[in-house]
Amino acid sequence: MNVPLLDLVGQYRAIKDEVIPALQAVIESQLFIMGPSIGQLEAKIAELSHARHGIGCASGTDALLLPLKALNLKSGDEVITTPFTFFATAGTIHNAGGTPVFVDIDPDTFNIDPAAAAAAITPRTRAIMPVHLYGQMAQMERLLQIAGRHGVRLIEDAAQAIGARRSIDGVWRMAGELGWATGYSFFPSKNLGAWGDGGMIVTSDDATAERLKKLRLHGGAKQYHHEEVGTNSRLDTVQAAVLLAKLPHLAAWSARRREHAAYYSTALHGVSAVRTPVTAPGNEHIFHQYTLRVERRDALQAHLKAKGVGNAIYYPIPLHRQPCFADLGYRAGSLPRSEQAALEVISLPIYPELERAQLDYVVDTIREFYR
Ligand SMILES: Cc1ncc(COP(=O)(O)O)c(C=O)c1O
Repeated sequence: MNVPLLDLVGQYRAIKDEVIPALQAVIESQLFIMGPSIGQLEAKIAELSHARHGIGCASGTDALLLPLKALNLKSGDEVITTPFTFFATAGTIHNAGGTPVFVDIDPDTFNIDPAAAAAAITPRTRAIMPVHLYGQMAQMERLLQIAGRHGVRLIEDAAQAIGARRSIDGVWRMAGELGWATGYSFFPSKNLGAWGDGGMIVTSDDATAERLKKLRLHGGAKQYHHEEVGTNSRLDTVQAAVLLAKLPHLAAWSARRREHAAYYSTALHGVSAVRTPVTAPGNEHIFHQYTLRVERRDALQAHLKAKGVGNAIYYPIPLHRQPCFADLGYRAGSLPRSEQAALEVISLPIYPELERAQLDYVVDTIREFYR
């Protein structure tokens, strides 16, 4: 049997009769730039996030870069984040003119450790950027307290966590609800994926929303009038139409991912070399990734590959150990929990269309390896 890590064709076949007409309508209208689908999608994603504004942009990377630019960082200004994430989290801090300050993770959830974030605050700190890694939210209530106490912004990297939520004092809080600004990615493999690149920022700060709308359009709301220097980072109208057609399915797709995750975790119970994902109390996980910690990870990976089971390592090198950040002065052992995670994690196929026989095959292949 062959179980790919991701198979977007199954989803495409299931929904193409809904998406193609939406796409066709954009083509018939020829309104490719900032067409009506953009505003419709922005309103829906803002609503989903319990936020007042959505601002579509060209990618998840830009959905982080633009709010960081809106901080007007000066050389030496610091943004505290996790090193155990996709490169864009820290790359955007650098590209916005700031310095990433990496702090270690909570070993259960792989998300930023709030105590470590608090300890890293300095007079130069301008923001904290948690990542809701793999689809479950970081400890937003603690991060909010820290950010509030020190007067710094909270920017959520929710690229992997659209629709994730966390019960705080008995109230469901959405990814994107509590931060000053939040970035989403619509990269095709995401739980809500476009048919190309795309991203969105949500915020409930009216002035910031206005500013971000300008920054994505060369710094001016009115054509050929530029209050500041922005860039071209519009969400493509074709992509917005695809996403609008897909959005009604998102909750069911993420629920299906949760079912698969529960099935895997039950079936792998008792394999002592394998630690299944921990969902923190209060979190509703959307399982963008289903990620194990395992012993002899690289040998398991080779075994899975030989047996036709797709898998991936997210992420093999924590960002504080990347050559491009060498001048920040981190060493091997600086952030041991992130470094340990990078040696132990492996992600399995978790997309909604997987069938029971495929899940069983993945489990049997892992059990066979550790027998
Ligand atoms: C945690 C995280 N941040 C940022 C991004 C950047 O998103 P994009 O690839 O849409 O630019 C991604 C996805 O690739 C991601 O997983």
